[in-house]
Amino acid sequence: MAMKEDTGSAHISNPRKLALQNHFKVDPADNVTGYKSFEAGKFSFRRDEYFAYITTPKGAHTMSVDAFLRALMPDVAWGFFYGTVNFDPVFGTTNFYGEVDMFYGSLNEAYTSEGRDYIERFRSDELMAIFKEMVSDWTNEGFDPFSAPRETGVPWGAKNGDNDDAVSRQRVTARRMVGMPGDTPLRTDGNGFPVNVMFDDVEQGQPEVHAEPGFEAEVQAFNLFGYLSRSDVTWNPSVCSVVKDSLFCPTTEEYILPVEHGNDRCEWFIQLSDQITWNIKDGVSGRPKAVVAMKAGDVACMPADIRHQGFSPKRSMLLVWENGSPKVPELIREGKAPNVAVQF
Ligand code: PHB
Ligand code: FE
Repeated sequence: MAMKEDTGSAHISNPRKLALQNHFKVDPADNVTGYKSFEAGKFSFRRDEYFAYITTPKGAHTMSVDAFLRALMPDVAWGFFYGTVNFDPVFGTTNFYGEVDMFYGSLNEAYTSEGRDYIERFRSDELMAIFKEMVSDWTNEGFDPFSAPRETGVPWGAKNGDNDDAVSRQRVTARRMVGMPGDTPLRTDGNGFPVNVMFDDVEQGQPEVHAEPGFEAEVQAFNLFGYLSRSDVTWNPSVCSVVKDSLFCPTTEEYILPVEHGNDRCEWFIQLSDQITWNIKDGVSGRPKAVVAMKAGDVACMPADIRHQGFSPKRSMLLVWENGSPKVPELIREGKAPNVAVQF
């Protein structure tokens, strides 16, 4: 998602000093359900008609396969995203940009206080290969894990085809800005992005741009509301404009952000339409901190040390504004940058 293509930095931080695991295995399709099962380190993954099962040396965990696939999908599409992707309060991944921690209970006080937590570290590309094969094998024909529930088929049942077109979608990452020459294109009826029915009242006109001669390739404007009204996915911020490390990542939201996102930097939210309610919890312990109801026009800055999950009862438009610098998480961990963007 909301990352530039190249966030690589030479130094990969490893705050828990974990050794890299290199055991990966794909087991053949089950005779009854038809699904493959997977191993990465000492984690193993299996699905059946309704559930995803994760086992670790410290315990087993079960999730609805709907919730699991909806969380796995963005973890794959966003390249493990910024910071932590909590699939639920127990299982998830933390991105160290080149390497990734996968954990069971490690960011849940109830598990850590009982010594029931388990964590391993992988090279990102190696764990990603397993995750990609899992989301492809476990997604049935007609189910799109990036779609709002009213717009997609169901994930349940025995293996039934696939939906590789949907699960291998390329995220939008503008180099400068949507619509610039040679950059990611505007959305139109003609290129497969009709206006979503929930946004059929959104103006579709485009601004007029009158560039001085010689500046035609430097000056650009587009109708962001029109662009967002044509998004075919939900909870999938995409980089629409870039100024150095300042990334505007607007997105359309409906139903539930399928992950509890643990930030590793501050991020600004500007609610462009409708309403989203955010549950905010401590990033490390999972203790509840706040409930924030954002209405159209509201602006919030989410701190770097929290996790959050949004609930959008109607399709809404949200602008997520990120500082994409790969240096920020380490500066925060070392106490050289603050957890909050403003102090009053
Ligand atoms: C976030 O974690 O900040 C986030 C993720 C996906 C969205 C919106 C916000 O669609
Ligand atoms: Fe976030």
